[in-house]
Amino acid sequence: MSEYQVLYRKWRPKIFDDVCGQPQVTVTLKNELKSGRIAHAFLFTGSRGTGKTSCAKILAKAVNCLHPIDGEPCNKCEICLGIDNESVLDVVEMDAASNNGVDDIRDLRDELTYTPAVAKYRVFIIDEVHMLSVNAFNALLKTLEEPPPYAVFILATTDVHKLPQTIISRCQRFDFNRIAPEEICKRLLFVAQQEDITLDGEAAMLIARIADGGMRDALSLLDQCIGVSRTVTEEVVGTVAGMAGKNYLFDIAEAVCSGDTSALLETVDALNTSSKDMSRLCAELVGHFRNLLVQKTVQKAQKLLAVTSAENQKLHEQAQRFTLQQLLHAISALTEAQDKMARGGNRRTELELCLIKLCKPELDTSPEALLRRISDIENKIKNGGILAAGDMRSLLTNANTSQEASQPAPADDASATSLCDDAMPIDRWQDVLSLLHERSLPLYSALRSSQGYINENCVFVDCTKTGRERLRSSSSRVFLKNALHEILGGDYRLGPYTPGKKAAAGSQDEESPIDRLARLAGSAGFTVDE
Ligand SMILES: Nc1ncnc2c1ncn2[C@@H]1O[C@H](COP(=O)(O)OP(=O)(O)OP(=O)(O)O)[C@@H](O)[C@H]1O
Ligand SMILES: [Mg+2]
Ligand SMILES: [Zn+2]
Repeated sequence: MSEYQVLYRKWRPKIFDDVCGQPQVTVTLKNELKSGRIAHAFLFTGSRGTGKTSCAKILAKAVNCLHPIDGEPCNKCEICLGIDNESVLDVVEMDAASNNGVDDIRDLRDELTYTPAVAKYRVFIIDEVHMLSVNAFNALLKTLEEPPPYAVFILATTDVHKLPQTIISRCQRFDFNRIAPEEICKRLLFVAQQEDITLDGEAAMLIARIADGGMRDALSLLDQCIGVSRTVTEEVVGTVAGMAGKNYLFDIAEAVCSGDTSALLETVDALNTSSKDMSRLCAELVGHFRNLLVQKTVQKAQKLLAVTSAENQKLHEQAQRFTLQQLLHAISALTEAQDKMARGGNRRTELELCLIKLCKPELDTSPEALLRRISDIENKIKNGGILAAGDMRSLLTNANTSQEASQPAPADDASATSLCDDAMPIDRWQDVLSLLHERSLPLYSALRSSQGYINENCVFVDCTKTGRERLRSSSSRVFLKNALHEILGGDYRLGPYTPGKKAAAGSQDEESPIDRLARLAGSAGFTVDE
């Protein structure tokens, strides 16, 4: 029985055409090889597992192959086979990570005085070349300045900025890109087919996204997955990649959203008891809120996120519960907490403090938080909400605790007049309509020529009969409320705009503003929700 060979070794590309996603390298090299004009020094740079070493090996064969085909090595002649099994000593691979001294480079220069034994070129592949010492670089530079005609150097590194400029300028440089998830996905499906592995399209795409541009990482992850099951689904990938069981991230975000500090502290406590590292948790939360932010701002978010479809759906739902500002703020606050932990703060305390502040914005007395709250108020004023002194007080103390903010303001003598009569036109109504345009065309068309009026936490819509009929459906009202929430930043009740009904409305003195509003609304065709 032959020994199991890991997939990424087994599936190392053998010709340039097998190298995925690097045409800027492979097409150029093939053209040079076809024309017979070969540089003496190449520099391959780029992130891990993107094909540098693979291309160096192909190039070493291609320059020496006895029967090259269209710039590619044949992989069949004695030279190609000899290079593969390392019996052709004219091709030397050196790992600069372990041979980084000046003596190693001097040995290499001494060797270079001999002409090739069997091949056309002596090829030196120096991997991880950034690890060379300063003296070794100087020795290498001398060699690169006057190479014998039969010498070819291929330097490979992930850290090109660690190389002296003098070395870089002597080489023909090729930059290897991170490989696009679609390319990785295609290759994974190909390898799976060859290996008789059942691999779902979605699972392949998830692996590709997790691998973040590295083909080696993608193939390793596939290898780990088939260790679990020869039928690889999204779920298998999620489990192997350690993405499962991250419900606590959703729980914490949920607690932040609903202002539930006790649920929050209990969750953190439970995680701490189960030895979860608090700075790791903080980093995961940053990632979670980033995912929510992407969900909030990008249409087809799953393309950008390394998550399963089920998780994508959960993220999508949770993202609706936050405003853009809240998400941005959460990310920056958590990042700040990470910094404080790194500077030696108590990890658990820093995390808890940060989360509680996110939960209860009124406890956050930083200038930024105050500015945020002032700008909330400014928005409300700008949008026509007239704030009585009492309202202003309640806004300042309850900013963002939406349950309380959505209670009707206590009716003083002035506000016993019709809420609708005193309502002000909303400046940003057009913005609200634009949002509707994106989300619900029928509702948008019905409200196209409408105008919204605001008073306290009630929004009154002056619209056509069609518009009023649309607004009887609760889904339409949810669309409108969400749009209002995003543009004006609050939770509003909806009603029809019917000024001047006050006089006809009879005994308002005993009636609460909300009851009266409900009555007015009912008579105008749609109901005010509670
Ligand atoms: N562009 C690619 N196309 C197809 N397979 C690739 C590609 N890049 C990497 N691989 C796979 O990953 C393995 C490792 O690739 P390689 O050694 O060429 O990467 P590298 O860029 O040299 O990485 P490192 O920077 O870690 O040395 C290959 O054996 C192959 O299976
Ligand atoms: Mg390499
Ligand atoms: Zn050959």
